[in-house]
Amino acid sequence: MKYPLYDNVEIMEHPLIKHKISKMRDVETGSKEFREYVNEIAMLMGYEVTRDLPLMDIQVQTPLAIAKTQIIAGKKLAVVPILRAGLGMVDGMLKLMPNVKVGHIGLYRDHETLQPVEYYCKLPEDIATRDAIIVDPMLATGVSSAAAVGFLKDRGVKNIKFVCIVAAPEGIKAIAEAHPDIDIYCGTVDECLNEHGYILPGLGDAGDRIFGTK
Ligand code: URA
Repeated sequence: MKYPLYDNVEIMEHPLIKHKISKMRDVETGSKEFREYVNEIAMLMGYEVTRDLPLMDIQVQTPLAIAKTQIIAGKKLAVVPILRAGLGMVDGMLKLMPNVKVGHIGLYRDHETLQPVEYYCKLPEDIATRDAIIVDPMLATGVSSAAAVGFLKDRGVKNIKFVCIVAAPEGIKAIAEAHPDIDIYCGTVDECLNEHGYILPGLGDAGDRIFGTK
């Protein structure tokens, strides 16, 4: 389903995704299950995100005849999690696309300037020749997500997709307006942000819940 206002924003409608997000929200869901849900949702969203991968025609000898069929046309991709919570989505994506390269971007917010600062960035050497799928479970203010997209653009990446599980309307606005040329995929859209930048009703701190740090 297209998100109203921005036609580069797609909201997931699959019942399995809705079901698993509901389970993730539950305060009673422990880290082990939470991690599993994050991975499963990443895999289901990966299926949507890769819908437009180019195919090439091939012929395969079956036990009975030659089949004229198709395979993925060797698209060069990279999955780029935003540290730390984005790490939780990597395995799910890799299950679908085991040969993609993985880059990492770490950002923090400078308390004085309030601007995102990159503290870690390790990307495949040939990132400029790859299409990138940035993953972060929570799209809250959108500041770090939009910055991560900017960093990849600065390094020459032409085709970027951004995938999150729970989005706030404020975050969608920020990233969609800063980067109208990328595709944005959200598992669901919540009501708003609270005064601390957490998504409501949300699911709490995704990083803490994935890694059991609280
Ligand atoms: N990051 C989180 O982990 N949760 C939120 O609600 C917002 C940002």
